[in-house]
Formats: sequence, structure tokens, C-alpha cells
Amino acid sequence: SMAPNGCPVSPQAAAFDPFGRPYQLDPAEALRWSREQEPVFYSPRLGYWVVSRYDDIKAIFRDNLTFSPSIALEKITPASDEALAVLKRYDYGMNRTLVNEDEPAHMARRRELLEAFTPEALEAHAPMVRRLVREKLDAIIDRGRADLVAEMFWEVPLTVALHFLGVPEEDMEQLRRFSVAHTLNTWGRPSPEQQVEVAEGVGKFWQYSGEVLRKMQARSEGHGWMYDMIEKNRHKPDVVTDNYLHSMMMAIIVAAHETTALATANAFRQLLSRPVVWADLCDNPALIPAAAEECLRHSGSVVAWRRIATREVSLDGVIIPEGGKILMVTASGNHDPAHFENPDELDIYRDNAVDHLTFGYGSHQCMGKNLGRMEMRIFLEEFTRRLPHLELEEQEFTFLPNTSFRGPEALWVRWDPAQNPERRDP
Ligand code: HEM
Repeated sequence: SMAPNGCPVSPQAAAFDPFGRPYQLDPAEALRWSREQEPVFYSPRLGYWVVSRYDDIKAIFRDNLTFSPSIALEKITPASDEALAVLKRYDYGMNRTLVNEDEPAHMARRRELLEAFTPEALEAHAPMVRRLVREKLDAIIDRGRADLVAEMFWEVPLTVALHFLGVPEEDMEQLRRFSVAHTLNTWGRPSPEQQVEVAEGVGKFWQYSGEVLRKMQARSEGHGWMYDMIEKNRHKPDVVTDNYLHSMMMAIIVAAHETTALATANAFRQLLSRPVVWADLCDNPALIPAAAEECLRHSGSVVAWRRIATREVSLDGVIIPEGGKILMVTASGNHDPAHFENPDELDIYRDNAVDHLTFGYGSHQCMGKNLGRMEMRIFLEEFTRRLPHLELEEQEFTFLPNTSFRGPEALWVRWDPAQNPERRDP
């Protein structure tokens, strides 16, 4: 078969399937052939140009005029007519937020909304994160066995996210189900039957977001990033628009918790599967921030991100036509030996781990990265101190099939409660 630029599609490019098992298990490994032989290729299954090398991905992130982020939250699998009818029934109108907004609107808006992310503002959340992690640990510490995803890795980041946003903490289970529907809707390949179910979830999420927003708008004051936005919307409605508020309300609940929950699960999986590294962290907690960063590089929770070419452009010798949709596999860039020495090794002493692409790069780079890092750090601090003898159980990991959000759906660990340091030395 042929790519839209007239070039033939190689067998490996034709076979590339980001919804299949190899990519879900290890996206960087699934693209090794591409990094080595064909770093920019057209995927007929996806209808996207796939980019796998570090430098190319960074160049795309750097130029957000040629490579517009407008499709970042587009449904990667076009909706069926039935699914569209469901969404219409809910008056679904998700549009631009920050992550998919073009210039100059994006920067004007981002600049208005930076205050919540100053180091002091973020540090103010640390005691709450620690209290939540401690409570969750108290609940399991005598048990000897737990699935950490089910017990705390999704719920703590969701609670922190809602608190950060100022959104009332109600119906956490439902919000989690909504988030899964949103992920499948945006980055997954649901079957025709699943599509209708997913559309129901997304439609309900949209309505829920609108209701919460209206309640918050009706209050005269409140604390949190959504309140900052509501305030800016009152004073600068052309910069922080009405549709932005509603779209953001829905998108940010997912962006602020799912990413961090999955990153934490990935980090614990990687670190616990290397007992020597884990023991290092227990002996020397000062290593934790660097270890968390290296886990974000080696096994990040966002593994691919999208752009669309606003003009014909040549990338690594491949002509991408105007309107060409691009999937940057950041997880692959993070394993590019041209930028990271021994890229497949988890090395917590690596000096350039922070160059990873898991938070994106350039003008749209993740605004919440330091909040996500802080949560990962506190999880690791509490566990290495209170359960240094934690072990990963033998298990088959499963993943929600999608291009971009990645982390195990369960993470089973065990330990001997009789060996808990706080029992020996209360
Ligand atoms: C943007 C990843 C946590 C808020 C992004 C982008 C990525 C990302 C890949 C797109 C970057 C680009 O286009 O260059 C992650 C990961 C996280 C995380 C891996 C956790 C480990 C958070 C949290 C928040 C947040 C906790 C909120 C409090 C945002 C916002 C943007 C963004 C607002 C849009 C920025 C813009 O377009 O200007 N994130 N994120 N993220 N993230 Fe995160």
C-alpha cells in the first residue's frame, strides 16, 4: 500500500498497531525497529504519521505553529453514527482547553493561569498528599498483600486533583469510570458496541462537569485552580472563554489524576522489580526524586501525543503533507540511544533523565508536572520508610488498550507484616 505522500508503506509500518498487545506491553520496544530503520512512517491502520526518535519528536514539540496541537484530544477512532447520536443527546461539546489550543489564544490563556503552579502554591498541597498516602497505608499495613492500584494509586491522585481544582470530592468511583470512558473515547479503539457505552460515559461526564461548574460559579468564593479560571472568565471572557471552562473542567479531572496514578503504578512496578534499586531508595531516600524522574523516562504514563501539520513539511527526509496527523511516540523517544545512554536500563543515577518527553516539551509542556512529581515522591517516601520489605508478586499485567495513557490496571504486592519496622520499633 501507499502513504498519502506517494511512498510505499513498509511491512512493519503496515503492521503497526498501537491497540495491540506488543505496544500496550512495551511501546518503546514495539517501536525499536522504527527507531533503528524508519523513524518517520505512515501507519495505514491509524491514518497517522508515526514519529519515534527523540530529536524528531522534540523538533515537533518545539514548533507548535507548523505542528498544531489542535488534535491532541480528538477521538482517534472516529465515532459511529450511534455513538454520535448518544453524544448529541448529552449536548456534548468538548472543544479547546489549553493542551489543544493554538496560538496566540493558548499563551494568553496559559499566562493568566500560572499562579496555581508556583513552587509555594504547590508545596501547600504536600501535607495533604502525605496525609492521604498515610491513611491509605494505615488501612493495608497489617494485611501483607494488596493491589496498590485498587487501594490507593488512583484514589489519592484523584482526591489531590479535585482538591487542587477546588472541585467537591463526590462520587469518586463514578469519576474514575468517567475517566476511563474519556480515555477510551479519545485514545482508544472501542468496538462498535463499546462505542455506544463509552459515549454514554463521556456524555454523562460532560453533563456532570457542567453541573459542577455551574455550582462553583454560583458560589461567591472558593479555592482552587478552577476558581481561578472562573474568576478570569468573569474579567477576561475573551481569553478564558465559556466553552473553555466547560471543556477544561472535564479534561483536567482526567489530566490531573489519571496521568499521575498511572505514573505511580509504573514507577512502583519498575522499582520493585529491581530489589537492589529499591533497597538503595530505602537506605537513602534522598535518591527518590531522581528515581521518580528516571521512572518517568523509562516507563512514563503518557506514551504518545498528537500534532497536525499545518503545512507540508519534511521530517527526517519524509514529506508529511499539510493536514497530516502525527503520533509522536514519546515513550520511544525516551528510549532513543542517540539521547540516552543504555536507554533500556533503569538507572536512577542517570544525569539527563529529566530530558525525557513524558511531560511533552515547549510551550505546552505539562503545567502540572511538579504536582505529579510531588505525589510520586511522597508515595515512594512513605512506602520505602514503612514497607521497605515490600515485594512485587508474580503477575500478568493488563493495560487499557489505547495509544497514549499507560499503566498496569492492577499492581499486586506482598510483605510480611511481622517485619514492619513500626512493629519492631514502634
Ligand atoms: C499537558 C503529561 C500531570 C495539567 C500535558 C502534556 C503531557 C502531560 C504529555 C502535553 C504536553 C505538550 O503538548 O507538550 C502529564 C503527566 C503527568 C501529568 C505524565 C503526571 C505524571 C498533570 C497534573 C496536572 C496537569 C497533575 C494538573 C494539575 C496539565 C495541563 C496541561 C498539561 C494544564 C496543558 C498545558 C498547555 O497546553 O499549556 N501533561 N501530566 N498534568 N498537563 Fe499534564
